[in-house]
Amino acid sequence: MFTHQPVMINETIKNLVHDPAGTYLDCTFGLGGHSKEILENLNDNGRLIAIDRDKETAQYSKKIEDKRFHFKNLNFSEIESLNTRLDGIFFDLGNSSMQLDDPDRGFSFQKDGPLDMRMNKEEEMTAEQWINTATEKEISDVLFHLGEERKSRFYAKKIVESRKKSKFKTTAQLSLFIEKYSSSQKRHPATNVFRAIRMHINNEIEEMINGFKSAACLLKKNGKLIIISFHSIEDRIAKNFLRSEEAKNLSIKKQGKPIKPTINEIKSNPRSRSAIMRIAIKNV
Ligand SMILES: C[S@@+](CC[C@H](N)C(=O)[O-])C[C@H]1O[C@@H](n2cnc3c(N)ncnc32)[C@H](O)[C@@H]1O
Repeated sequence: MFTHQPVMINETIKNLVHDPAGTYLDCTFGLGGHSKEILENLNDNGRLIAIDRDKETAQYSKKIEDKRFHFKNLNFSEIESLNTRLDGIFFDLGNSSMQLDDPDRGFSFQKDGPLDMRMNKEEEMTAEQWINTATEKEISDVLFHLGEERKSRFYAKKIVESRKKSKFKTTAQLSLFIEKYSSSQKRHPATNVFRAIRMHINNEIEEMINGFKSAACLLKKNGKLIIISFHSIEDRIAKNFLRSEEAKNLSIKKQGKPIKPTINEIKSNPRSRSAIMRIAIKNV
């Protein structure tokens, strides 16, 4: 059983749940940490819909026996199909601890498993298929744009050379391969490479942009949009969307400054250290 401490939970409730009788959407159910707390803060007339693209999250959703709660396996880009006007929409981006802690899902460079990285295991392309077939330019572009990896071209060249001799199959194989060529002392040298491949395999940028636009359309007047991101690329997408003409046309406006976790939260849950919460409100 996987455990998970929901990130910035007090800040989420305080900023999201402005009407306890309202209807809310949790777009990133995961292990349900935020969903459970949102439900705690709704009255009998309140309602919570939760979605997640990962089919394995359905088993955790079934544990919430509450008639005010509804779960669906959906992508961010499909939320308009819910066709419900909402008082608040919440995104807690990235991987769940269930995905990261299970070596078979292939997300972690610290645990050996198949190079998979699909958030939804029914999608076709795994990280293994991609890394063994993509062109050197494709690999270099993904590592550069989605991983901000300074050595993107060098790693892409070495990956393509190496896979001629033996294909990449496991997370440990890829992680040790990157380590061999890296001099980074600060954090694990494969951090950026793994994140870039994960974002590519799951089409995360497009999913976020479409999800945020749809969210803006679904909100009622005074409805709140809360986005928690965990690295600069995710945060940039959220920030740029909230500043865009499109957001203005959809009457969604950023509210206040971005919020970071407290020192106490970072101490008790180191995973929260890079979190940034952005808040927006629907005007009409
Ligand atoms: C950080 S976890 C959420 C953790 C959750 N808030 C909790 O407290 O347990 C992010 C979740 O979002 C899901 N997710 C990521 N991208 C998605 C997308 N485009 N559509 C739907 N779900 C997505 C992942 O599968 C993962 O379960």
